[in-house]
Amino acid sequence: MSTLPSTNPYEDPESARLYDAENSGREDVEFYRRLARKLRGTAARGADAPFTVLDIGCGTGVLCVDLAADGHRVLGVDPAGAMLEIARTRPGGERVTWILGSADAAPEAEADLAVMTGHAAQQIVPADAWHALLASAHRALRPGGVLAFESRDPRRRPWEHWTPESTRGDFPHPDGGVFTSWVELLAVDESGADGVVETHRGITEREGSARRSAEETLIFRPLEVLRADLEAAGFAVEQVHGDWSGGPVTDATAELILLGRRA
Ligand SMILES: C[S@@+](CC[C@H](N)C(=O)[O-])C[C@H]1O[C@@H](n2cnc3c(N)ncnc32)[C@H](O)[C@@H]1O
Repeated sequence: MSTLPSTNPYEDPESARLYDAENSGREDVEFYRRLARKLRGTAARGADAPFTVLDIGCGTGVLCVDLAADGHRVLGVDPAGAMLEIARTRPGGERVTWILGSADAAPEAEADLAVMTGHAAQQIVPADAWHALLASAHRALRPGGVLAFESRDPRRRPWEHWTPESTRGDFPHPDGGVFTSWVELLAVDESGADGVVETHRGITEREGSARRSAEETLIFRPLEVLRADLEAAGFAVEQVHGDWSGGPVTDATAELILLGRRA
């Protein structure tokens, strides 16, 4: 069995096909659906304007189609064509406007809510790219619109648990049978002022096929950095939650879920 060279997991069609199987049973989708329903009642938009949600880094579009089924106008943007192809062809995908690109490709001042889910915010590692993304999200929102996203809390040091043994799992393959996946930690850099930067390799294996591997680098920004970055981009941070039931951030919670309002 050969090992394929590293690929960007979101650009590779075969890896993109496995994404939903590896990411089922999520709690975040219901959190963001509830948030959209709640904001829809209070959004300051014209009487005829639909409540519009922009999903930045929408991936395979799981949340987008649910939001569209809830009656919102939904724009899903993602720079990875392989992920967007799965999103487009998902049942209900015809109700969503799909845009190949990032937040800067979204129309100006149309969104009432912009979201970044599946820890997509942690993939934008260089500080200038992160600040540019927040500026684009701000531009895409109507005045009074809300940006909501989550990032893993670095105080919990989750990368220390990302060993092959603790991450190994079997999942149904879209073509039948199962595939196995696991993660190998490659590097951790704790020297940066903006947060801990971690690189890991995700590996998938299926009987009779070549083993596939792809490297991914994530940044774990502390809450104070996320707050300051949002404020610098023109958002008022209105809520911070530590879990998907909307509880506060504590020493025991794993997520930093932030809601910032465009002034
Ligand atoms: C972990 S996936 C999350 C996908 C989806 N939001 C979810 O919750 O399942 C991260 C996604 O972010 C996208 N992404 C990476 N860099 C991005 C950027 N600069 N702007 C927008 N999306 C980006 C990737 O292509 C990928 O589809």
